[in-house]
Amino acid sequence: MVNIVGAGLAGLSAAITLARQGVSTNLISVQPSERAQSVLAEGGINAALDTMGEGDSVSDHYQDTIKGGCFLESEESVKELTENAPQIVRELINLGVPFNAEKGKLVLRNFGGQKKKRTAFAKSSTGKMIMTALIDIARKYEALGVIKRYPNHEMVDISISEGKIENLLVRDIFSLKLLSFSGPAIICCGGLNGFFEGMTTGTTANTGNVQALLFEKGVEFANLEFIQYHPTTVEITGKRLLVSEAARGEGGRLFTNKNGNRWYFMEDKYPEFGNLMPRDVVSREMFMLDREQGCDGQVYLDMTEIGSDIWDRKLNDLRKELVDYIGKDPKKDPIPVSPGMHYFMGGIRVNKYHETNIKGLYAAGEAAARYHGANRLGGNSMLGAIFGGKTAAENIKKYDMPGSVKEENRILQDKSEEKNRKGLKGILLKGLGIVRTYKDLRYTVDEIEKLLLSRDMPEIDRKRAYLGLAMGRSALERKESRGAHFREDYPESSDEYRKQTVAVLEKGDVRICFKELLST
Ligand code: FUM
Repeated sequence: MVNIVGAGLAGLSAAITLARQGVSTNLISVQPSERAQSVLAEGGINAALDTMGEGDSVSDHYQDTIKGGCFLESEESVKELTENAPQIVRELINLGVPFNAEKGKLVLRNFGGQKKKRTAFAKSSTGKMIMTALIDIARKYEALGVIKRYPNHEMVDISISEGKIENLLVRDIFSLKLLSFSGPAIICCGGLNGFFEGMTTGTTANTGNVQALLFEKGVEFANLEFIQYHPTTVEITGKRLLVSEAARGEGGRLFTNKNGNRWYFMEDKYPEFGNLMPRDVVSREMFMLDREQGCDGQVYLDMTEIGSDIWDRKLNDLRKELVDYIGKDPKKDPIPVSPGMHYFMGGIRVNKYHETNIKGLYAAGEAAARYHGANRLGGNSMLGAIFGGKTAAENIKKYDMPGSVKEENRILQDKSEEKNRKGLKGILLKGLGIVRTYKDLRYTVDEIEKLLLSRDMPEIDRKRAYLGLAMGRSALERKESRGAHFREDYPESSDEYRKQTVAVLEKGDVRICFKELLST
């Protein structure tokens, strides 16, 4: 019996892989799979399939991923990911995912930071389509009693003894009943969106509480300073709406007004990739426009030249969302956009088997720091989640044994308070912007240290503050610029820092060190 926390792509991939081998799982999640973050993924999934003579190869996909990640990912991990990508997409086709195709061949689209067309997509709802297919399979195994789903359940504690996981404590969100699940676990709870409510394209149902609980229990985290800002997002109530990179892949162009004229700054500055430079570069260029003479700083995404046929066949949901949420038709008007937080490259530190520093505890998907280095390429997220979930499942089997689920006869009071979450968010945002400075990072770290002196904070908020401190200190200690971590005081990359930033809570303090990129 294996416990899986999180029922998005990584969680489903792990559960299905185990179910196919007859291993039972408990799939525990705050939201049902149908509402997981993965459902929101729009643009597509990368695989060097070369369906229409794009001239692509696994080696090109590997090179682009390594380069996009600014050489901060282990070569072995990217090799495995990119080699497995074609088979993963073929399996999804066999499950009936309605990828766009012409004359029986998959149509691939351009995505940021990639030289070849290699992103398979289902219009602009790829995540929803893949999730629908996987949910069907999970239901089949549920009917057979191999997968047991626990939606609307949140993990509230973990017990670890002598470096090995013993059990997870889980609370029913509605009845508040507590259940204790024994045995090994895979954490697939998504990214740290809940630390930045309103600022991310992701769901804040991914609160980051699970990560905070794990961090407090001594689980190692890596690369927490690398937070991806997606260049084209729009503010809507309570979050940022993603305008998929697919729009630029299909011909959308970024411009700003300079001295009364449109300036297509990305095309001007980067003739090779133009609007499809990796996200860290585009976001930074947008940020810097504020300092450009004659610019008002507002950036627009002009999609008016995209033909009706492309809108209908490839981008229909994207257009509908813009019309529905902001009342603008991208076919007719340029859309004002700005960068928003989109992905956390850092997270729980795992080895090549996806095991953490705690025996029997694994992590996959956005919760884990693997595959994406200092900056993830668009289209590699769903790939990493599916592959990571599979890999974790293949390897956790060695801990499989009959598990138990026991009801606990007590109520757990600990509950995060809004004022603490908001306070921490403000402090983190100051230091962890697109462009960072020593002064702002120092502020972030000092203020969280002060917060931690307060005595009347709920335990969960104290744990969140420790993880926040780990983010701030990781960024402060990395004295270079690389990918999503850009420091004005250290604007160049340095070979000295071509290492993972590792954060761990030891004796009540957050310790940061740098470790060689893992190959095991
Ligand atoms: O822009 C997008 O559609 C995002 C895709 C991704 O993050 O992989």
